[in-house]
Amino acid sequence: MKDCRLGNLIEIKGVTHAYKTKAGPFPVLRDLDISIPEGSFCAVVGPSGCGKSTLTRLIAGLMFPDEGEVWLHGERVTSPRKTVGMAFQNPVLLEWRTILQNVILPLEIVAPRMPRREKEARARELLALVGLEGNENKRPSELSGGMRQRASLCRSLVHKPDVLILDEPFGALDAFTREDLWQTMHELRVKEPVTAVLITHDLRESVYLGDQVVVLSGRPATTQYVMDIPLPGPRPLDMIYTPESVERLAILRKQIQIAQGRTEGDA
Ligand SMILES: Nc1ncnc2c1ncn2[C@@H]1O[C@H](COP(=O)(O)OP(=O)(O)O)[C@@H](O)[C@H]1O
Ligand SMILES: [Mg+2]
Repeated sequence: MKDCRLGNLIEIKGVTHAYKTKAGPFPVLRDLDISIPEGSFCAVVGPSGCGKSTLTRLIAGLMFPDEGEVWLHGERVTSPRKTVGMAFQNPVLLEWRTILQNVILPLEIVAPRMPRREKEARARELLALVGLEGNENKRPSELSGGMRQRASLCRSLVHKPDVLILDEPFGALDAFTREDLWQTMHELRVKEPVTAVLITHDLRESVYLGDQVVVLSGRPATTQYVMDIPLPGPRPLDMIYTPESVERLAILRKQIQIAQGRTEGDA
């Protein structure tokens, strides 16, 4: 089944989902709609516990919604996707593998027949792009938090996924390291174009990295507000301090307050 609407690589249509718990259904998402054009970054913000990580699992095909549809590249998601790369707040690198071996891991799963040399070349290329050249043979514990997160980003991109899912990947880093990584993300986008969903609780991050920012309501989350940020190309870090950005941040902050004040009862 092919979707006729080309252009949007990720299409989330009327998605409603509840977890089945002993106490009965626990509604998490309700009639959620998000459209993400190919090659663009969609930042998703919303109150803690509203269903953001659930949304990433639905996009990756690790779970399926009770109602509504998730489409990737004109195909309905009905099984786990190999064409998705994921990175999380905790980089979960394997300590018994070197950084290079950690980055190669997804290729061992999705491209087992690719020659080892090619796998290593691909991993080295990405590690160089994020400034980790020379660290290939180190163990994860020998790297700083920021470096580990860079390695984790390489691992999520190594198999050239169509879709990159970033679930608060910079959340645990200090402010300066985080800003460095934001800039790295823009540089990576130029060299490794990908369609991305970035879950974050940092509004500045959403404005700096997002081509659109989607604000989810409180649980059960629905699409409360969508802001387009039509500024193509890598953005200078100063962009966060322009009057336009300050205005955008004020609007988003207000939207988050609305989302936080909302309860299931008055939905
Ligand atoms: N497997 C599960 N079973 C039951 N409830 C869950 C499960 N996973 C998450 N939840 C609950 O669903 C809600 C949304 O979770 P999550 O998507 O992780 O939120 P977020 O990422 O926005 O913080 C939370 O209240 C969480 O406790
Ligand atoms: Mg989460």
